[in-house]
Amino acid sequence: MNRDDCLGQLTTREFGRPLVFFDETDSTNTQAMRAAVAGEAGHGAVFIAQKQTAGRGTDGNTWQSASGQGLWMSVILREAGPIRPAITLMPAIALARVLRTMYGVDAHLKWPNDVLVGPRKIAGILVESVPQAAGVIHVMGIGVNLNQTEFGAELKEIATSVREVIDRAVPVPVFFGQFMLEMEKLWNGPHDWPALWLPYSRMVNASVELKQGGMATQAVALGLTDEGFLRVREVSGIERVIMSRTGLDVRILFTDVV
Ligand code: BTN
Repeated sequence: MNRDDCLGQLTTREFGRPLVFFDETDSTNTQAMRAAVAGEAGHGAVFIAQKQTAGRGTDGNTWQSASGQGLWMSVILREAGPIRPAITLMPAIALARVLRTMYGVDAHLKWPNDVLVGPRKIAGILVESVPQAAGVIHVMGIGVNLNQTEFGAELKEIATSVREVIDRAVPVPVFFGQFMLEMEKLWNGPHDWPALWLPYSRMVNASVELKQGGMATQAVALGLTDEGFLRVREVSGIERVIMSRTGLDVRILFTDVV
């Protein structure tokens, strides 16, 4: 794949324009953030890599980003006003829509922005935001496993790819074009992210396990606040709001999803 392949799939006005393409880079999030802060890239700009050598996940984890195996990209969004955290739900909504409507993949969302098929993760999102004099810059990093046919021992039980699910290879530029269009449609519609996110999640009323610092507690997920935070009721009956997933592992205890 090259830059022209990706540009050829774009039907958007704003998203993916301009498009910065790397055969190889450390992390598209790192590159996008550097350019955004330097004022070299604005709203809608996308950084996409065929391969990342230091792909970053949430909680300081690495993200495996081998050549041609998936969509590894970051998009810059600029918002006026203070940080509104619910915006971090946006890419997951777009991914769920594309995976379901274009590929028939039964994708569902785990708070705040993991995309799963059954118990396995098919896509992950790393949003990094910095306040600016007039508003906020968000770098939304998106990793979608598209074409892996096998994962290493440490990911085998917890990761999957579109190819594993539908038994067909997916051209990265095609998926990129579909995802960009869905993102642009969402951006141009009402920014009611929690309400748009909920229909794709199976967490509401499900038992969840919350693991933090070696401690595990069980709770029932009740829904999201307007800010996109997770509302849970603990076994004690106490309701609380979880604002950040940093250092927190949320596991959905479905009967069919472990
Ligand atoms: C997660 O841990 O679930 C988030 C993974 C995010 C990976 C993507 S791949 C493109 C972008 N660049 C990075 O370094 N990370 C994100």
